[in-house]
Amino acid sequence: MKLAVIGGTGLIGSQVVKILDANGHEAVPHSPSTGLDLLSGRGLPEALKAADVVVNLTNSPTFDDASLVFFQKTMDNLLTAASAAGVGHAVILSIVGADQVPGLVYYRAKVLQEDILKAGPVPYSIVRATQFFEFIGAVLSSTADDNAVRLPATLVQPIASADVAQAVADVSVDAPLQGTRNIAGPEVFALDELGKLTLAARAHCQGRRRHRQDHLSGVAHALARPGPHAGRCCWDDPLS
Ligand SMILES: NC(=O)c1ccc[n+]([C@@H]2O[C@H](COP(=O)([O-])OP(=O)(O)OC[C@H]3O[C@@H](n4cnc5c(N)ncnc54)[C@H](OP(=O)(O)O)[C@@H]3O)[C@@H](O)[C@H]2O)c1
Repeated sequence: MKLAVIGGTGLIGSQVVKILDANGHEAVPHSPSTGLDLLSGRGLPEALKAADVVVNLTNSPTFDDASLVFFQKTMDNLLTAASAAGVGHAVILSIVGADQVPGLVYYRAKVLQEDILKAGPVPYSIVRATQFFEFIGAVLSSTADDNAVRLPATLVQPIASADVAQAVADVSVDAPLQGTRNIAGPEVFALDELGKLTLAARAHCQGRRRHRQDHLSGVAHALARPGPHAGRCCWDDPLS
């Protein structure tokens, strides 16, 4: 199967391309750095030529009102070009519960992206994921001052980006859902507890790293990290 992965150089996109290629598909990554700009449509017809599926894993450069414009324009361009090229399946990655938080403009922009896809001419799938583990560090930083991190006890169920990429890849090579698949990590945390765990793990891992450099080989390091659902020994690897 030939898949055009737009945003295929990003955190999720690059992993999706690897998974698809490893499974015998032809996944082609596209982004501004490869000559495709989804905002202007530059490079889009060439990218979609002979593609069976288009996977859109782009992200807006900002999370303010401009994100509404970004997702509107990019989806309009994508669907017009995909329809003209006869692409049989369009996939996007959105956020679990985005429609429940209309006060956040970025979440409204993601719902707009979904709505444009649903109303468009191309058979579609939407994967909705919870917050990526990899972004917990950014959440901590954004609430920190010199002395403290202040987080609410809001419940979260973060997921490793590798698991998100696998889910997107699986959905992309299957029949269009004409609907939405929600995915989340294996554990629910209170955000303030997750912050404490993260800071403690960072301190612990810094100590372990120093020790490892002295005593452990690369093979031992690999064996200590069995996979996302098996539990991570070092929280700061995905979080930093
Ligand atoms: N963060 C979360 O916790 C979370 C949770 C659920 C869903 N999501 C969604 O997951 C999606 C992917 O996120 P990510 O973290 O993988 O994003 P990312 O790492 O920022 O990657 C974004 C990709 O989009 C490309 N891109 C940006 N502007 C473009 C344009 N005008 N035309 C073509 N490509 C463009 C980038 O290319 P360059 O590298 O060349 O700039 C890059 O390949 C987003 O839509 C986000 O809303 C995120």
